[in-house]
Amino acid sequence: MCGIVGYIGMHKAADFLVDGLSKLEYRGYDSAGIAVLDKGKIRLDKCVGRLENLKRKLGGNMPEGTVGIGHTRWATHGRPSDLNAHPHVAGKFAVVHNGIIENYLKLKEELLAKGHKFISETDTEVVAHLLEDKYEGDFEEAVKQVLRVIRGSYSLAFMCEDEPDMIICTKKDNPLVIGLGEGENFIASDIPAIINETRRTFIMSDGEIATVTPDGVWVQDVNGVPISKKVFIVNWNAEAAEKGGYDHFMLKEINEQPKAIRDTMTGRINAEDQTIHFPELNWTEEEMAEINKIFIVACGTAYHAGIVGKYYLEQLARIPVEVDIASEFRYRSPLVDGNSLTIVISQSGETSDTLAALREAKRLGARTLAVTNVVGSSIAREADQVVYTYAGPEIAVASTKAYITQLLAMLMLSIYIGRLSDTIDKKLARYLVSCLLELPKQVAQTLENTKLIEAQTAHYAQCNDVFFLGRSLDYAVALEGALKLKEISYIHAEAYAAGELKHGTLALIVEGVPVIIIATQEDIYDKTVSNLQEVKAREAEVLAIGFEGDTSLVNYADQVIYIPKTDRYLAPLLTVVPLQLFAYYAALARGCDVDKPRNLAKSVTVE
Ligand code: F6R
Repeated sequence: MCGIVGYIGMHKAADFLVDGLSKLEYRGYDSAGIAVLDKGKIRLDKCVGRLENLKRKLGGNMPEGTVGIGHTRWATHGRPSDLNAHPHVAGKFAVVHNGIIENYLKLKEELLAKGHKFISETDTEVVAHLLEDKYEGDFEEAVKQVLRVIRGSYSLAFMCEDEPDMIICTKKDNPLVIGLGEGENFIASDIPAIINETRRTFIMSDGEIATVTPDGVWVQDVNGVPISKKVFIVNWNAEAAEKGGYDHFMLKEINEQPKAIRDTMTGRINAEDQTIHFPELNWTEEEMAEINKIFIVACGTAYHAGIVGKYYLEQLARIPVEVDIASEFRYRSPLVDGNSLTIVISQSGETSDTLAALREAKRLGARTLAVTNVVGSSIAREADQVVYTYAGPEIAVASTKAYITQLLAMLMLSIYIGRLSDTIDKKLARYLVSCLLELPKQVAQTLENTKLIEAQTAHYAQCNDVFFLGRSLDYAVALEGALKLKEISYIHAEAYAAGELKHGTLALIVEGVPVIIIATQEDIYDKTVSNLQEVKAREAEVLAIGFEGDTSLVNYADQVIYIPKTDRYLAPLLTVVPLQLFAYYAALARGCDVDKPRNLAKSVTVE
């Protein structure tokens, strides 16, 4: 997720902009830039790479102006480069943006037809040109006109050479805060950027437009109706501010999942006709007909997302799928050929084994597709095609929001291929899309049960072993639940396909052994409940996860966590949430370093 800062006052804007951006560095970024109104003209300084590069570029030649906006970019549209870095300028206007403008291609075509010239690949540059196009001497009015036509998620800050005493900013589905000073005011996407300057802030809400001047801030809606804002005194220290008030990045990221899901759907789901599109793939029926096998290759959590992906692709697209751990795939002489598609899944896009597996698949002549969260990463660059997940930067070592968006990408992809190959009908596809549209709300609802999960977990934190069971998609999620628990709480955890238990592992199930069982798949529900009874008969302590309205689990399990009712294909995107929280609270109760578990690194760039 990009970082935004803005300053208007009596000091050199560039000093605050650079300092504020440095406070947002922890979020991850690939380029940085500032625009300052210097002697009535916009001066733009931006470059790819670390903020240090920008500082070096500015050197002793800092702009003098006292009004400016700045940005650290986490690429979504267009690779990281000097030209794609923000701010973007069109005529008298400079713009910084965090989010995704969904209809930017259509707007760009219209602007091109009117003679506008674009120099970047970004969706943001379209907003700058749109503002220039709408401007008839009234800056605020032009911003309102822009907001009436753009669709998507954004926080935006605008500057205009004709109005050197104001910055205008607004937001939808992305954070934006205003910091209030004396004779100066601040804008930021995140509180850490401003707490060295002021603790008096207010948080912007969706649809609000703030006109920020040195002496005050005026907030209105798009129709000009004034809005009064409550000032909030931030008493977080710098560390707490980075975590948005949460105790750990992991908990923050778990709570960001509804937004990560919404962002990953943006531009791919058409809510009106309930269809799925991947403009970045644009596959045809003929192309799909040539694919007779899919390999999914990944490591760790991403591998678990691949297992879920196999169920989706085989059931919805009816193509045989093999899922491989990347470190195995690369050395096992896989039977990959030109009629196969290899999908590599990687949050970072830099995992050494996954990258090597991708190269091996290419060497063997396969078509390749990367599902990754990092634009311009090695895997994104080397794969034939890329589907990005838009989880935003993930900082905690344990992957949470990236995993959920990987599941979402695999499900959307399977529905998309299913329709192209006609293996699912329009009605089913529409129904699944309608369920997907409910998902962000349902994940948020599941998160509201946090307290309940926290209370249930404290007890399990004392155990040495935990078993996770499920069948079909529930089994695939059980694998991820066990990994999460192991890596951050150091409790030994194993996941089993519930039907497999009696072939050996049942010997370990004795009185008091904790078993977490997931039971959402209706086609094999009775069988899962039989397995539940099997472990209960050995006096295991059972925590079940099932759909709201399931009245039978409570008869067998010691405790039940309910998730909102949805289609069985979407259940993994909900059942994983209590499992993530379970791992988090268990680690917390055991005093573990949640965000930085021992022996682990966020990005594994060595073999
Ligand atoms: C576990 C975790 C790891 C990663 C794995 C692959 O929480 O994060 O298992 O999933 O190292 O990393 P990426 O997805 O970056 O390729």
